Amino acid sequence: MKYSLLPKTDLKISAIGLGTNAVGGHNLYDNLNEEDGKNLVRTALDNGISFIDTADVYGTGRSEELVGEVLKEYPRDRYVIATKGGSDWRNGIRDNSPEYLRKAVGESLERLQLESIDLYYIHWPDNKTPVKEAVAELAKLKAEGKIKAVGVSNFTLEQLKEANSEGGISAIQLQYHMLDRSVEKDILPYCVEHGITVVPYGPLAFGILGGKYDEDFLLEEGDWRKRVPLFQEGEFEKNLAIVEKLKALAGRLGTDVSKLALAWLLAQPGIDSVIPGGKRPDQVLANLEAADIELDEELLEEIDEILKEK
Ligand SMILES: NC(=O)c1ccc[n+]([C@@H]2O[C@H](COP(=O)([O-])OP(=O)(O)OC[C@H]3O[C@@H](n4cnc5c(N)ncnc54)[C@H](OP(=O)(O)O)[C@@H]3O)[C@@H](O)[C@H]2O)c1
Repeated sequence: MKYSLLPKTDLKISAIGLGTNAVGGHNLYDNLNEEDGKNLVRTALDNGISFIDTADVYGTGRSEELVGEVLKEYPRDRYVIATKGGSDWRNGIRDNSPEYLRKAVGESLERLQLESIDLYYIHWPDNKTPVKEAVAELAKLKAEGKIKAVGVSNFTLEQLKEANSEGGISAIQLQYHMLDRSVEKDILPYCVEHGITVVPYGPLAFGILGGKYDEDFLLEEGDWRKRVPLFQEGEFEKNLAIVEKLKALAGRLGTDVSKLALAWLLAQPGIDSVIPGGKRPDQVLANLEAADIELDEELLEEIDEILKEK
């Protein structure tokens, strides 16, 4: 496993992290049995993954609680825990106000049973609180030792620039994977220039780059991915065609498309860690192997050609 420092901290994040969206009986995915969810986190921590990603809203608090129960079993320096807040799920509104963020950080600390959160992201901009005010409150919480680093998620470039006006942002979390490269246009170059790490979410295109879906794949009623453009009729078939080509290339390299997709992200400038989700320990273990795949310029160009076909 490769590690790098989370910008502006001395915390070591692993190149492969773990996304815990599915841990905690989340309405985004089929419910994962709680003990199975906890075992996913244990599998990650036992095998070199240090970077664990959760959010207060996952399982409406339950993901943080379950992750927290597992973290207690490990020394504090074995993991870097990231969580997110600023969406008041109880009232269905986004709220980045200083008062709400302070309350949310306090509640996340309780659910995680920790004295400090390593990386705290504003999950979504609320488009009403001035970004600088929201970030200033997180800077205060950092000074108080409640969080160690400040991040934002789903921010536009303009919002990110405002958030980073004092240079205090360590990370931004955004959708980024082989089938959606929109962040490459402006956010990624800004982050590289300003020493902000980009943590891609949905690195496996929410399962499509896992390589096991075909044209007969049907999302169950209530699956949130029904609203995701990648899964819409027409778009989904185009994505599957790309995946087929990537599978052939991965086969030539002696790997599979999911590992290729993660290794490809890690080969991009500004990316230090990816946080694939998963529901089974074998998926966590398989994803770990991506950290050892090196893609040279020639292969990256070949992949580019395939991705351009979309
Ligand atoms: N900041 C935000 O707004 C935001 C939004 C979304 C996600 N996130 C974070 O990003 C993390 C990752 O995103 P995600 O979990 O939604 O999507 P993802 O990582 O792109 O995809 C996860 C899915 O990929 C499949 N998969 C995982 N490992 C695999 C393997 N080795 N081989 C084949 N298939 C594999 C599984 O699908 P099957 O279930 O079909 O097996 C799994 O459910 C989340 O857990 C969360 O922490 C953040």
